[in-house]
Amino acid sequence: MGRRAPGRRPEGVHGRPRRRLKTIASPGRGILAMDESNATCGKRLDSIGLENTEANRQAFRTLLVSVPGLGNHISGAILFEETLYQSTVDGKKIVDILVEQGIVPGIKVDKGLVPLTGSNDESWCQGLDGLASREAAYYQQGARFAKWRTVVSIPNGPSELAVKEAAWGLARYAAISQDNGLVPIVEPEILLDGEHGIERTFEVAQKVWAETFYQMAQNNVMFEGILLKPSMVTPGAECKDRATPEQVADYTLKLLSRRVPPAVPGIMFLSGGQSEVEATLNLNAMNQGPNPWHVSFSYARALQNTCLKTWGGRPENVKAAQEALLLRAKANSLAQLGKYTSDGEAAEAKEGMFVKNYSY
Ligand code: 13P
Repeated sequence: MGRRAPGRRPEGVHGRPRRRLKTIASPGRGILAMDESNATCGKRLDSIGLENTEANRQAFRTLLVSVPGLGNHISGAILFEETLYQSTVDGKKIVDILVEQGIVPGIKVDKGLVPLTGSNDESWCQGLDGLASREAAYYQQGARFAKWRTVVSIPNGPSELAVKEAAWGLARYAAISQDNGLVPIVEPEILLDGEHGIERTFEVAQKVWAETFYQMAQNNVMFEGILLKPSMVTPGAECKDRATPEQVADYTLKLLSRRVPPAVPGIMFLSGGQSEVEATLNLNAMNQGPNPWHVSFSYARALQNTCLKTWGGRPENVKAAQEALLLRAKANSLAQLGKYTSDGEAAEAKEGMFVKNYSY
């Protein structure tokens, strides 16, 4: 898609972006988030005793993208910049492998979180400077959608300033991405940190999404050409009252129907530190009836965790690790269709992965 002169924005999303959205938000499929920054990827590798070298990151990401049949359950993969330009250990471009698998390549375009001066110890997300030219280059390299993750902390407020800043950054990013032919994934993650109950998460999420849609409208973002990546509405990670998948689904769908226009094609949830099984059960509960949008997943930890542990950095474990990823991809595929049961799931897949103040 070529660049348009300013002010020549068409009335809606047509042609290729429209088809791409249909592919990404297709029944029984969701997104594999594998766009951990080098620092975060380093923490993952460290957990299995590997050094954070480019070769080790390449080996793990080669393993992920070359799982046979992955494209039956995964419609898009979000990459970190290094991976977008990287080849597999056998010298094939990672982007080409994804396309062969029927998976749309995407790119993380934000530049991470930094302290928000004047707030209650909160953060803001950098990356707008030079974004248009970076995105033009990413498009040339094969990326077709983008992701921008910013966070909102409940225990730290959230202050009005932090919510406004999060929404404004997301809206500018979404407008710039659409102008550069990339479908924007809009992700204001409401962190799991805190002792608050589910009602409080619901209240904060309503505010955050109201502000995000307001700012997107102000920036002429076409709602039919975005994907959302929300957190599920759950109690804080340190809250004593836990919620059932049905309660999480009730609150989350109520939030979405109050705040998200039906023109938005897809809602792709993050897992946020939930266990693999919990994230799948919650998604399944949300798909027990028809929804105006495609309700699916865009998980990193809840897809990759068992896979990473099974691999352990050993070539002889690659096949078993790939089977572990396929198992999770299939389970979430079923959950997207509302047909998942957790019978036979391993105890390990039920262990939560919450980390305080998680950065990506
Ligand atoms: P988790 O599913 O591990 O929360 O990560 C998803 C993601 O892309 C965060 O930006």
